[in-house]
Amino acid sequence: MPDLVIRSHHIATMSGETGYGLVDGWLAVSGGRILAVEPGEPPEAWLESSSGVTCVDARDRVVLPGYVDAHTHLVHAGSREDELAMKLEGVPYLDILARGGGIHGTVRRTREATESELYRKAEGSLDRMLMHGTTTAEAKSGYGLDLETEVKCLRVVQALDRSHPVDLVSTYLGAHAVPSGFRGNTRGYMDFMISTVMPQVRAEGLAEFIDVFCEEGVFSPDETRVLLEAGRKAGFGLKLHADEIVPLGGAELAAEFGAVSADHLLAASDAGIEALARAGVTAVLLPGTSFYLMTGRFARARRMIDAGVRVAVATDFNPGTCPCESLQAIQVFACMGLRMTPAEILRGMTIHAAHAIRRQHVIGSIEPGKWADLVLHDAPNPDWLVYHFGSNTVDRVYKKGQAVVSDGRRISS
Ligand code: NIG
Ligand code: FE
Repeated sequence: MPDLVIRSHHIATMSGETGYGLVDGWLAVSGGRILAVEPGEPPEAWLESSSGVTCVDARDRVVLPGYVDAHTHLVHAGSREDELAMKLEGVPYLDILARGGGIHGTVRRTREATESELYRKAEGSLDRMLMHGTTTAEAKSGYGLDLETEVKCLRVVQALDRSHPVDLVSTYLGAHAVPSGFRGNTRGYMDFMISTVMPQVRAEGLAEFIDVFCEEGVFSPDETRVLLEAGRKAGFGLKLHADEIVPLGGAELAAEFGAVSADHLLAASDAGIEALARAGVTAVLLPGTSFYLMTGRFARARRMIDAGVRVAVATDFNPGTCPCESLQAIQVFACMGLRMTPAEILRGMTIHAAHAIRRQHVIGSIEPGKWADLVLHDAPNPDWLVYHFGSNTVDRVYKKGQAVVSDGRRISS
């Protein structure tokens, strides 16, 4: 006997290789997991109030798997609205960084913040994610760079994973920038990450993945190679900020190392795209960031999809290049900027995103055995979710079968 049955004309299961896997029927949940998804009417006996089954009539709702945000810089202090004027004057992102602003400004503030301040701020962001339909998110460190602050930020991720309905998957991104104390000594900083931080992060179980910002003026491909090698040896899964601004062969590198994902990829080469397809590396595209960088450039999603690359779409939530927690807000950029179809985008935010964090067996689609992470959207059909922008369509969110958002509001912790 299930605990919960939801009826809907539009259950977008995301099963199968393409499209929504739409079912006009019902789904049943037991013990937090999907028991069945079937067309037609549920068994009569379950609909009776004496059956003990909670029946939800969502026939005027679209049911989707909870969104999976596969790339966020969740934990950081402060904000960077003061950079807007510089951006409008046309100062490039990497120039702001080279002047000691950008990431470095956020690092200064994150080092000063206490663990509970960081926790409260990140908790507010997670609430916004959840209310916009995200039920699992990846969360990177990378605004501490020193041992103490990186560990502090990853502990915040761990604590929030335990206390908040949104599940978190954590990534150590010490290689986000070379901190000022190591300026001109990138190798010294790399040695420090490899010999001091990675072992401690590993020993405390604070991160599943490592990530590197492989970019001109940050970590070169050769340096990235050394870091990926060390991360792999230490037992981490691999992710890469690849070919975001300058084409450096980041996609090729991600493929060579069998990374779980290669992210950004605005400047990825044809050979890099083919290598990702061959190696089965998920491309995580971040069109909100493309929009916010104001260069008019977007990743070549169509070419990637044609080449057979699995494409996910994420927010990149961070204080510099995408101060936005809502995957719904990113959908319009994915459509107009990346030229992805609504079905490609919604798959990119569910099942493909689950692949990008190695959770494809437990979340990302509505299939028997997976967690019942479900979102009821107030929309006439799934395409409409991408077509209409600027308002929140989430009516109700279930996390592992429990209602955590109802009428668009948090109802439990
Ligand atoms: O994914 N590219 C590097 N990291 C972030 C931006 C971080 C920041 O500017 O604070 C990104 O775009
Ligand atoms: Fe990022």
